[in-house]
Amino acid sequence: MSIEEKIKELQERRSLLQKGGGDKRIETQHEKGKLTGRERLDMLLDSGSFQEIGLFRKHRVTDFGMEKMDVPSDGIVTGYGTIDGKLVYVFAQDFTVMGGSLGEVHASKISRLLDLAGKMGAPLIGLNDSGGARIQEGVDSLKGYGDIFYRNTIYSGVVPQITAILGPCAGGAVYSPAIGDFVFMVKGISFMFITGPEVVKEVLSEDVSFEDLGGATVHGKKSGLAHFVCDDEEECLATIRELIGYLPSNNLEEAPYVDTGDDPTRVDASMNDLIPVDPQKPYDMVKVIEHIADNGDFLEVHGAFAKNIVVGFARMNGKTTGIVANQPRVLAGCLDIDSSDKSAGFIRFCDAFNIPLVTLVDVPGYLPGTIQEHAGVIRHGAKLLYAYSEATVPKVTVFVRKAYGGAYIGMCSKHLGADIIFALPTTEIAVMGPEGAANIIHRRELMEGGVEYLSAEYLAKRKVKGEEYREKFATPYVAAQRGYVDEVIAASDMRAKIIVALESLATKREARPSKKHGNIPL
Ligand code: HXC
Repeated sequence: MSIEEKIKELQERRSLLQKGGGDKRIETQHEKGKLTGRERLDMLLDSGSFQEIGLFRKHRVTDFGMEKMDVPSDGIVTGYGTIDGKLVYVFAQDFTVMGGSLGEVHASKISRLLDLAGKMGAPLIGLNDSGGARIQEGVDSLKGYGDIFYRNTIYSGVVPQITAILGPCAGGAVYSPAIGDFVFMVKGISFMFITGPEVVKEVLSEDVSFEDLGGATVHGKKSGLAHFVCDDEEECLATIRELIGYLPSNNLEEAPYVDTGDDPTRVDASMNDLIPVDPQKPYDMVKVIEHIADNGDFLEVHGAFAKNIVVGFARMNGKTTGIVANQPRVLAGCLDIDSSDKSAGFIRFCDAFNIPLVTLVDVPGYLPGTIQEHAGVIRHGAKLLYAYSEATVPKVTVFVRKAYGGAYIGMCSKHLGADIIFALPTTEIAVMGPEGAANIIHRRELMEGGVEYLSAEYLAKRKVKGEEYREKFATPYVAAQRGYVDEVIAASDMRAKIIVALESLATKREARPSKKHGNIPL
């Protein structure tokens, strides 16, 4: 064979493999409203940057007639490329080849990428679309999953791991995305469950659709498994690009800096009206975040889940910053099980990847009641305390309005290691809300003369006592006198003050006792 013929043969081999399951299956994929793995990678990465690894990999299975089956690239496209010039390792499971099912070789291609991503210190992005363990390969596919879970864990906190679910993801396959840092799902095409609707029907006689069991909306809103829920694949892949822009490539890099052009000393008079003085009046904390962030850009994470707390990424004078904030519009901003899980996970991610934290506090307390208590609000709430205490990145806290009781401590108070703490003049910090306090310390007086507990007369008298308590204790000044608040500032100066504080903390180093690892309450 001449060299020209050899090159022609190479091109033919390549283009045959690049067709995956072939035109008919690609057509079926499109009819389902889904892109192919290669189309997805084209859309995700900078144009022309994708470099494939393992195109020619092939299984060696002889059971169930597999020796006669062509399984191009073993049903997965793997390699590396760039997003806005930043190196990322990527895989896309190819549903047109045996339903993207995971056999030994398929799994080893993912494991190799994880090893490369870990060694090179670059994020790993997986695009999942798979029928799960390749049934014909039995225990070898299970071994493959185990190898992946192991590496997901080893490289957790070393490089960011992001998964988009762009098709089915069932059985044990769900755990690789779940060990990673961020899960994306797309409405109508993404499904994640341990056992599908048929098994649910057989075992529990329960009728449930794919969508209601494990669709994007369910995992975005209820289980909290999905950090981002997107309307279509284009939006999903574009949001992954946006997220990558906020993240360092690995745990040894600083949080990225981007010249946003926004004035770090910008004073925002409208902020004084945005936050109501009346402690009972709700407002949208996301708006507050948008007012303080560079150019109002805020990438909210877990936006549909536990909406009583808001977490996400912003830039403060160009530098990526993690924002955690109570949301007074939902459950009055109370902390509960889901909001504790959500915020603790986000705080730990930021701490692992050197992203400073800004906490905006407006919290009346923990959500009371049997549902929360029985479901473990103590165990889950403990995660938030742990995560903040453990975090050694710069921590700036602003008490925006209310901060009561245990929730005051939990929202990154000085006592959990906040470095700089601001409060607005409207801030109320106390052991509990004024009405609750009056109930306890003035109960006898309020019920004098046979007044019934919580009757109209009682409530009227309590209002007076509550106001007395509010005026005396529920201000930022007692906490400022003790040194628990460093400075009381006007809301209009919040952005400028936070930026100066963060910049002063850029060189923060905090040593902790050496240990193997802590034992976060789970
Ligand atoms: C081998 C598979 C496969 C699998 C799909 N295919 N899943 N081949 N192993 N797990 C093949 C199909 O035979 C078919 O091949 C092609 O992929 C496309 O599948 P369809 O069924 O035609 O597609 P669709 O109608 O869209 O249904 C998709 C699906 C369904 C819902 C995912 O295929 C399905 O239920 N698959 C099995 C899911 C499953 O039980 N997996 C094991 C989970 S347990 P042809 O040649 O006909 O086109 C597990 C354990 C992991 O994963 C444990 C790790 C710890």
